[in-house]
This record gives sequence, C-alpha cells and structure tokens, in this order.
Amino acid sequence: MKKKVALIFGITGQDGAYLSKFLLKKNYIVYGVKRRSSIINTHRIDDIYKDINSKSNFILFYGDLTDTSSIYNLIKKTRPNEVYNLAAQSHVQVSFEVPEYSAEVNSLGALRILEAIKNLNFETKVKFYQAGSSEMFGRTKDKFQNEKTSFYPASPYGVSKCFAHWITINYREAYNIFACNGILFNHESPIRGETFVTRKIIQGLIRIKNGNQKKLFLGNLYSKRDWGHAKDYVEAMWKMLQQKKPGDYVIATGKTFTIKDFVNRAAKKIGFKIKWVGKGINEKAINIENSKILIECKKRYFRPVEVEFLKGNAQKAKKLLKWSPKITLDNLIDEMIDHELENLS
Ligand code: NAP
Ligand code: GDD
Repeated sequence: MKKKVALIFGITGQDGAYLSKFLLKKNYIVYGVKRRSSIINTHRIDDIYKDINSKSNFILFYGDLTDTSSIYNLIKKTRPNEVYNLAAQSHVQVSFEVPEYSAEVNSLGALRILEAIKNLNFETKVKFYQAGSSEMFGRTKDKFQNEKTSFYPASPYGVSKCFAHWITINYREAYNIFACNGILFNHESPIRGETFVTRKIIQGLIRIKNGNQKKLFLGNLYSKRDWGHAKDYVEAMWKMLQQKKPGDYVIATGKTFTIKDFVNRAAKKIGFKIKWVGKGINEKAINIENSKILIECKKRYFRPVEVEFLKGNAQKAKKLLKWSPKITLDNLIDEMIDHELENLS
C-alpha cells in the first residue's frame, strides 16, 4: 500500500518532534519545514536521523510561514495527504513585544497555507490541521471551556490564533477544504521550550539543587492551567484528520492547577522542603533546610493582561475521536525531572 505523506510546518518545535515520531511509527513519509537560523535548531528531531528505520522516511526542507512562495512550492513538491500547521511565534508574553510579527506568522501563515492548498487543488484532497489554542478563550468566565465557549483573547498571540481559527473554518465552508482546528490546552514535555513556565520551574529547581543557580524568578503564581502531555496531544491532532468529516475539537485534561501548585509538586519531587512567605510581588518560597530564598517574583515576568483560568472540556474529542489523555500531571513532572537529571549527567 502507498505510504501516506505528511507535511509538518513547525517540525523543530515540541509538538513537531512528537508528531513526527508518531507518524513515522504509523508508516508515514514525513516532510518537515524548518526555518533558517544562525545555529542548528534541529536538536529535538536529531534522534530520528540516528534511527535507521525512520531516517529514509523523514526529510527536511527550508521554508518559512512569512514566505508565501516557499509554502506554495513545498506543498506542490511534496504532494501531502495531510498538512499540519504547528509553526508559530508561540510565546504569549513575547507576543506583547512582537505583536505584528506574531500576527504575521500565526495568522497570515495559516492563511498562506490554506491559499496554497486551495490553489493547487490536487485531485487527492489535502487535509489540513491548524494548531489552535486555549489562549483564544483568554478572559472567559466559563468554568469549563469547550468548542461552544466564546473566544475572548487576552494577548496578541491569542488574537492571532483566533484569526487562524476562523480562516480555517472559512476555507472549509467556502472551498470545501478538509480543515480542522485543534483547540489545545497547555501541553508540556521534557522537550518543552525552556522559557515556558513548567520547564523553567523544573530546570531552575534542579540547577539550584546542584548549586548551579541561586534563585528562580517567576511572575504570576496564581493563574491556573490545564496541563497535559504533548505525546497524548499529537495523537489527537492525527485523529482529527482521520474522521469522515472535518471539525474543531478541544483537547484538554479537564483538570486545572495554579503555577504555585506546580512548583510545590515539582519542588517536593526534587527533594526540597519549602515554605511560602509574603504577598503579591513580595511572595517568596524559602528552602526550609537552609532558610535561603528559592523563588522570588519579578515584575518583568507578569503580563500586561493575564489569562487567569483555563480548564477544558474535551467531551467531544472523547466521543468522536475516542481520545482521552493518558499521562497525568504527576507522571509528566516525573518525566520532565528525569530528563533534566539525565541531561546533567
Ligand atoms: P514551539 O515549540 O514553540 O514550536 C514552534 C515551531 O514553529 C518551531 O518549529 C519554530 O521554529 C516554528 N516557527 C516559528 N516561526 C516560524 C516561521 N516564521 N516559519 C516557520 N516556522 C516557524 O511550539 P509547540 O509547543 O510545539 O506548539 C506547536 C503549535 O501549537 C504552535 O502553533 C503553538 O502556538 C500551538 N499550541 C501550543 C500549545 C502548547 O501548550 N504547547 C497549546 C496550544 C497551541 P524554530 O524551532 O526555528 O523556532
Ligand atoms: N513563561 C512564564 N515564565 N510564565 C510564567 C512565569 C514565568 O516566569 N511565571 C508565571 N507564569 C505564568 C504565566 O503568566 C501564565 O499564566 C502561566 O504561567 C503559563 O505560562 P506559559 O508556560 O508561558 O504558557 P501560556 O499558558 O502563556 O501559553 C502556552 O499555552 C498556550 C495554550 O493555552 C503556550 O504554549 C502557547 O503557545 C499555548 O497556545
């Protein structure tokens, strides 16, 4: 049987790496789009090249979501069955500093891919996955967020993802493109970007434990996030594209924790006994064993507007995709800690 072909934008990112491995196991040919950078940016997928069985089905090309011709040419050249748009300026706080660029990549990037799919009009329909985000719910007051919850984005990133979401629906309805939006809640892993809060906390605490860092500086400790594992979430992306009809799906665990809860769990596992003192920007975590400050809050890590509360309801995905998360928050933290310790040794 002819192998299916997937083209992944954002292959060098966290989800790109997990999705590549998942699809290669399913016997796909995986083409990935990486952008040019001044240092090699393929560390998350380098192990695929070391695996002799995967290597020949895994090919990378240069391209960029800000460059229409590269997108068009790559889709034309690779003739994919499935296109996954995982590429983005994905850092919410950074999007306040580079709002125009964030929109350029996250909003217009999605539009450029859809336009290429529409104009190339291959005989075998190309299926399209758009990496949407719970950040689109932003300042919602709903206690659980699902596919029917109104968007109220609270960052240039969130707004840019809303455009991508709606343009995906628009192209599905206007041009009959098989296009799906995943509305994914936060998902983490040992290869999560180092400036996202979960990885930052675990890396920081382990460095302090080993005497390589003095303190960890954080921002808002009281926002709540619904954290899952990237490995579970990429499976949901693929499942969306295997349905008879295209649709939009919330992917979440349905559980929510504060940043402080995450710190407490991670600190305990790493072997710290901590107590919290002070309030607001002056709140600190103290290492009980030596009375030293372990964590402090810093103004620069607070956002101009915060998404205070995220908790997803993934009942639709459970029913139609037969998807539910397998990895718990505690298992995720354990895996992230083990990976960090392994890296150090
Ligand atoms: P990530 O680790 O930040 O990866 C983003 C990827 O996009 C990287 O490969 C990056 O390349 C690439 N990229 C950035 N700008 C680009 C451009 N102009 N042209 C081409 N590629 C570009 O993000 P992730 O956590 O894997 O998330 C994947 C997608 O899901 C993103 O769209 C994100 O916004 C969305 N999402 C993530 C979460 C989450 O919790 N992880 C939740 C909801 C939605 P470099 O490696 O060169 O930087
Ligand atoms: N990054 C970071 N750094 N966040 C901090 C810090 C810090 O030092 N201190 C507190 N936080 C808080 C943020 O204010 C936010 O409320 C929460 O920790 C999570 O921040 P991030 O880990 O940066 O993730 P995010 O929720 O803003 O965005 C991620 O999830 C979205 C899905 O909801 C990203 O992966 C987005 O791309 C994704 O769409």
